Amino acid sequence: MTIAVASRSDESVIDNMANRNGRNRKIAVIGTINRDTVTRADGSRHEGYGGILYNLAALSALSPSGITVCPVTNVGRDCSQQILNRLAQFARLELQGVRTVAKPNNHCILRYRDAANKTEVLKGWVGGVSRGQLQTVVDAKLILINFISGADISRRNLCWLRGRCEGNIYMDFHSRTLGRHRDGSRFLRRPVDWKEYLDCADIAQMNELEFELLSGHKADEISCTDFLKRKLDRTRCLIVTRGSLGCFIMQRLGATIRFRSIPAPRVAQVTDTTGCGDIFSAGFIANYLTTGSEVVAASYATKLASWRVGLNDFFEVDLAAFSKKGRTETSGDNLRNSKRNI
Ligand SMILES: Nc1ncnc2c1ncn2[C@@H]1O[C@H](COP(=O)(O)OP(=O)(O)OP(=O)(O)O)[C@@H](O)[C@H]1O
Ligand SMILES: [Mg+2]
Repeated sequence: MTIAVASRSDESVIDNMANRNGRNRKIAVIGTINRDTVTRADGSRHEGYGGILYNLAALSALSPSGITVCPVTNVGRDCSQQILNRLAQFARLELQGVRTVAKPNNHCILRYRDAANKTEVLKGWVGGVSRGQLQTVVDAKLILINFISGADISRRNLCWLRGRCEGNIYMDFHSRTLGRHRDGSRFLRRPVDWKEYLDCADIAQMNELEFELLSGHKADEISCTDFLKRKLDRTRCLIVTRGSLGCFIMQRLGATIRFRSIPAPRVAQVTDTTGCGDIFSAGFIANYLTTGSEVVAASYATKLASWRVGLNDFFEVDLAAFSKKGRTETSGDNLRNSKRNI
């Protein structure tokens, strides 16, 4: 199994694309950086930062050269120094869209019952990003909107952004499907305005549970194809991630929808699935900017995200060095070895 990386000739494809479009070579990432407390199914605990930090780490390491990565996010004052220190460790980041707010940072308390089931409590609240922050990325080639809190960007600001940006919008619907009780505990719900949000996306990602919630059907070839065809009439590509089963990708090709199922590599030992969806979107974008193929990008993203589940701490891994070495394995054991070899 090969994890492809941008070669010099690929990079010239990006150069040509950028020059032809006359557009800035920015990828924007809109979402929230959480403080995470994760209790795994085996009882072990992990404290750290997450949310779009997973996107930023992977994009910073894997995007073709010449691309800058621009987080657009609010950071709570209590965690701002730690978060800014973390951001300073990533290459090619531009931080004009990062704003420190006088509020407690979002703190996500995740408790896994097993690899696929978890409960989530959210404390703190930094709110959504402002138009001033969004203005810094309207010229981006691609904008990733990752609903980490669910209110990372308001609907009005999203529509405003859609009207101004020429680049693609990639949206992970994720926590937009989560309501929040007074005590911070999250619950699944179908937001009434879900279609208005997704109508702003060129490429949309959601997991099977989120798909079922929005469509009212279990994810399969017929339901996913039908959903893109009839319900998401402005979106050209829908990706439904399926945990250990990989993903479905549906592409609009004129009047028809092409369906593909991409299996995930088997992972010998599942250690931590936190951030899988975020690593998937980052892998997709980094590869898509190189290849221009949604199917190739989804296949790459599936391998990259599956690789993550075998790792203890994703942020400890030198992704760029791993990719440059052209390593081909994706099982947790092999990847742990690769980490030692770097
Ligand atoms: N147990 C697993 N084994 C192999 N790959 C996995 C496993 N769990 C997740 N993945 C990989 O991660 C991708 C995204 O997983 P998933 O569908 O669980 O996303 P998600 O629910 O959005 O994740 P999260 O919300 O935890 O970030 C999958 O398509 C697959 O490539
Ligand atoms: Mg997700």
